This record gives sequence, structure tokens and C-alpha cells, in this order.
Amino acid sequence: METMLGGHLLHGCDYNPEQWLEYPEVFEEDLRLMKAAEINSVTLGVFSWSVLEPEEGVYDFEWLDRIIGRLWEADIQVILATPSGAMPHWLTQKYPEVMQVRADGRRNLPGKRHNFCYTSPIMREKIKELDVRLSEKFGQRDNVILWHISNELGGNFEDSACYCEQCQAAFRQWMKKRYGTLKRLNQAYWGRFWSHSYTDWEQIHSPAPHGEWTVTALEVDWRRFVTEQMSSFCLWEINAVRTYSKLPVTTNFMDFFKGLDYHRLQRILDIVSWDSYPQWHAQKDEAPVAVRASAGHHMMRAMKKQPFLLMESVPSGVNWRMFNPLKRPGMHMLSSMQAIACGSASVQYFQWRKGRGSYEKFHGAVLDHKNGSCTRTFADTARVGRRLKSLTGLVEGTVNRPRAAVIFDWENWWALETTTGPRLDIDYVSCVLAHYAPFWEMGIDVDFIGMDDCVEGYTLVAAPLNYMYKDGYADKIRRFVGEGGIYVTTYFSGMTDESDLCFIGHHPLEDVLGIIQEEIDAPGPEFENSMIFNGISYPVGNLRELIHVSGDTQVLACYTDDYVKGMPALTAHSFGRGTAYYIAAEPDRALLNALYKEAAGKAGLKNPLGIPLPYGVTVSLRTNQDGGGLIFVMNFKNEPAELCGFGQYTDGETGEIYKHQMILEPFSCRILISEETV
Ligand code: GAL
Repeated sequence: METMLGGHLLHGCDYNPEQWLEYPEVFEEDLRLMKAAEINSVTLGVFSWSVLEPEEGVYDFEWLDRIIGRLWEADIQVILATPSGAMPHWLTQKYPEVMQVRADGRRNLPGKRHNFCYTSPIMREKIKELDVRLSEKFGQRDNVILWHISNELGGNFEDSACYCEQCQAAFRQWMKKRYGTLKRLNQAYWGRFWSHSYTDWEQIHSPAPHGEWTVTALEVDWRRFVTEQMSSFCLWEINAVRTYSKLPVTTNFMDFFKGLDYHRLQRILDIVSWDSYPQWHAQKDEAPVAVRASAGHHMMRAMKKQPFLLMESVPSGVNWRMFNPLKRPGMHMLSSMQAIACGSASVQYFQWRKGRGSYEKFHGAVLDHKNGSCTRTFADTARVGRRLKSLTGLVEGTVNRPRAAVIFDWENWWALETTTGPRLDIDYVSCVLAHYAPFWEMGIDVDFIGMDDCVEGYTLVAAPLNYMYKDGYADKIRRFVGEGGIYVTTYFSGMTDESDLCFIGHHPLEDVLGIIQEEIDAPGPEFENSMIFNGISYPVGNLRELIHVSGDTQVLACYTDDYVKGMPALTAHSFGRGTAYYIAAEPDRALLNALYKEAAGKAGLKNPLGIPLPYGVTVSLRTNQDGGGLIFVMNFKNEPAELCGFGQYTDGETGEIYKHQMILEPFSCRILISEETV
């Protein structure tokens, strides 16, 4: 990928010169200040449809042509977007079918963005006509390096799928293909429950709040279909821009977005990119926010096991949360370095310049409405630009190669949160992040992988709330543990198959886990309980499984109270050459820390400095092919942090030598040279 992008770290931004066409002096200032801020790439055209095609079939590329040319002269590269993210009014006026229909059957009104029906043949035709022309005009320009398909496919809201009649018809076709016969479909859906057997494919309708919302398998299938349909729309646009161009393609993903299975969608892309807007400074303890941001970066990198792009971030504050803090001194640099530490090949922003009007006029940008380059944010941005420039040679050819993986699977997410019971507020993302946090605190990088992904090469796999087992999953894990892997899983795992039909008889991994699941209790908050692990008592949450162990399973902790007192709450089972841990009750943070410390030790994992890290400090390792690489040491506390007990390292940027001890400034990152992989 580095060669595709010109071999250097990108420092760039979404750039909307089309909003400023009447202000030629602004463009001149932009160019000058981009150079001053070490901006070397800009993303153009994201929402420019109405300017590129002001009337149906009337195209105006002159302004874009001129701007791309001037950027080329200034040695600034271009990521060129297709503009399908927002539709022009002439389109929605003439062809209302291009607008989405909500789950309740109402068609959206014109306006906003992400409002298009990805099934609509007219939408597809209209965008293709434009994309092909963009491809012809700009697809071979020297400074155009990447296609950016649309924008945040699926929209910013969890359910921004289209439910129109054309989507319903396509869904029925998809169901026919998946199940073949109604008999198979009815069996998969447990159709006789509440008399829900289908006798005609035409009876199938997407889930809806005022219709069918009780068949959990239908909900999961609908979401699978939406991903397929969106992928086919994305591929449609990819094929269009490829008509005259061989450039790589990406589309910008979002943070843990439930609406689309990114593991599926990423397969049609060359490069994974995403938009990261962590909620820094919402509270004084920044570590949980850093954990979430880090998880997002690791997930994006793990999709292709190669550097990804941080496509959007904000150099100051956003405008769309209840509270929108500005980044405190140091945080912009630190959060940018965090992305690089986790495998990014870029730091890009939304947006270069604040617009004068409409919804995002107060959203943070490199340039504010006033004061040009004389702002704190501009200075911060320029500092990041200079640092990225000097880092380019250092990070070249390196990427994180973790030996631990955390399973995060969209289909499991959908199934788990759709199902009724044992509690209605199960939150998969929070649970996965809770299981990831100990790795972050230990400074051990992880890959977030789907259940379909290969687990070879990892020594530890964590699978929290792994409720739905897809075909082949149990066998893969059996092999993994048998061959020496360390596997950690939890209550409410291995419950259903891909159709959300419960397994009967046994847990599919009963032999590996060495436990027998019986029931799961979800009592009210007054019914406290705890477990004692290695002599320390840990409170447990309100999901508590009642399990039994088979003969050779080690009981690591038992419930201390109530009618389950003395029953196993945490177990370890040796299977083949490996070990499987089972957490039967919802653990607190301290228990997860203790358990993963033990599991990581067993798996031979430690952070590259080989020392315990103070809370709020973490490290990430990017290695090259020879086993050497870079250790990013990051302090997310707004106070100095001291690290002691490591060997000797050279600072990759300053050449300073650190022997056994180092003080990290508040909100700061140092990059050390690692001679060998730990
Ligand atoms: C992203 C989007 C950008 C901009 C940004 C504001 O979700 O892709 O266009 O709206 O949010 O934070």
C-alpha cells in the first residue's frame, strides 16, 4: 500500500473548495497555508454532486480540474471521492424513488445526506454516469492517488437502511438464494412459532416496528442483506471509477457501526480507511476513550493486516455532541500518533476550513472563520505535519503484527442484541471493549477479527459474548486450542447457529471448554454476588451462568453468595496442548485485568518493553520484516508518567538514549527503536 500512496505518511483533510468558488482569494490562501501546515493530500468531491452536475446530464468539471492542477503544482496529492453521499435536489425532485424509505414505510423527504436507496436502478445509473466521467477526466492524473467511494456508507444513524419496495423485492430474491425452499426457510426461522410459517416468498417483508420484529433470524438476515446490497452498490461505483483508472479504492468506515458488516464490505476495497472521533475530555480519565479509539484503529488494520488510513479526525472539537470540548494541549499530537502507532498510514481531518453556513459551520477545522494560521489549532496541525514528515522513513515497511486476537463479529452482534433474554440491555461493543482494555493496559497489541477469520498465528484468542456460532467456528477453535492456543470465552456463548436456532444437547465446544452450561440468571441489582480468584474477591454483574465442570476442569473461582454459592464462576480447561478459560459471570474490570494477565502469560505475550505500565500509559509495536521496529509509548494522562525497569532504547526521533527509566510528558508519545520483536 505504501507504494500505492507514494511511500509517505499522508497528512491531509477533507477539502471543499466548491463551497468557496466565489472567493478566489480563499483558494490562494488555502494553498499557501496547506504548505505551511505540511498538508500533502486532500480529499476532494465528497459531497460535490450538485456542483459537478448542476443539471441532469450537464457536467461542470472545470473548477475541479483547475484545483487538481494547482494542487499538483503545490505537490499535494488528491483522494478523489465519488459524490453519492448527498444527492442534488434536481435528482430527488425528478426521481423520488432514489430517496430511502424508512422502516415504517414512509419515504424520506429530500435533503440531508446518506438518503439514497442503494437498490434503485435510477440512482445507480445516475451515479455511474457521473463516476465514469470522473474516471475519464481525473483517473490518470499524476496527483490523484485513491478513489474514495461515497461517504460513510449506511449513514450516521444505526438504522439508515432503505425499506422501499425495490429493496423488499431484492430481499426476497436474496432469501430465495440463501434458503432455496420455503421449507428450509421455515425450519431455519422456527416458523411454526406464532404461526409464522411462510407459504409464498411474496409474504416476506423486512422487519418493521409496526410489523414483524419478533423473528430474530429475520432481523439478522435483513442486516446481512443490507450489507450485501450496500456492497453491491459500492462495487457498482468501484466498477464505474475503474472504467478509465487503475487507482486503488477505499470508502470511509465509522466507529463500531452496527448497520453494515465491515468484514464483508472491506473485501471489495483495496485499502481500509475510517473516521475516528473519540470523545476526548468528556471526563478526566482519558483511558477508556483511548481504549475505544485504539480498538477502532486495530480493527481497521486487522481487516487487511496492512496499514489503513485515518481518513477523518478533528484537529479541535466536533459540533454534534452535547458537549464538544476542544483538544487540550498535546492531545491532537497524541491522538494522531496513536493512529500511526496502531498501523495508520495517514492522519487526515474533517475539515480543512470551516464553512460559512449550514450544519457543520461550527465543526472543528484546521482553519477557523477568523485568524488564518494564527490559531492554536493551526499550530497543532502544523506540528503534526512536521512530525509525520520526519517519521516517514522510520515507519516505512512497518506494521503491527499482534499475536493476540479479540473476536468482534457483526452477525454475532446483530443476533445477540436482537434476541430477547436473558437481559434486554446487552451491549456487545461495551463488552468487547471491556475485554480489550486489559490488553491496552498491558501494552499488548491485538487484532480484532471476525468469526470467519483465520486464527492461525495467534497464541491467544478472546471471544467475549460469542453468542452465535457460525458454521466451522467450533472446529476452528477446537483445532486452535488443541494445537496450543489460549482461548478465553464467556457466559452466553455458543448458544445459537447462524439462523439463531439454539444448539440442543451440548454446547458446541463443551469438550474444549470442559464445562456444561445449565441456565443463566439475570437478577436485579440488589442481588449482589462475587467470585474469589487468586484470593481476591471480585463483584460480578447481573449475568450469571450456572455451569458444571467436567472431571479435569480447573475451577478458578466460585460464586460466593446466594443459591449459587460454591458453583463455578471461572474455569480453565486444558485441551490438547492449549487452555480454554470460561468466564461464567459478568466480570468487573479488575477481574478481567487479572485473568488476562494470567492468560497472556500462558500465551507468552508481553509488551515490547517487558515492564508493567502505569495506568493511562500504553505501548504499540510496529515491526518490520527483520523483527525490528518501533515502539510507540503513549501517555494518555494529563500529568507526567514514569516508566522504569526496561532495558535500553534509543529515541527514534531525537536519538536520545533511555536507560531503565523515562518520564513521559502529559498527553505525549515517544517512539523508540526496537531491535527485536518481543
Ligand atoms: C463524518 C462525515 C464528515 C463530517 C464529519 C463531522 O461522519 O464523514 O462528512 O460530517 O463526520 O464530524
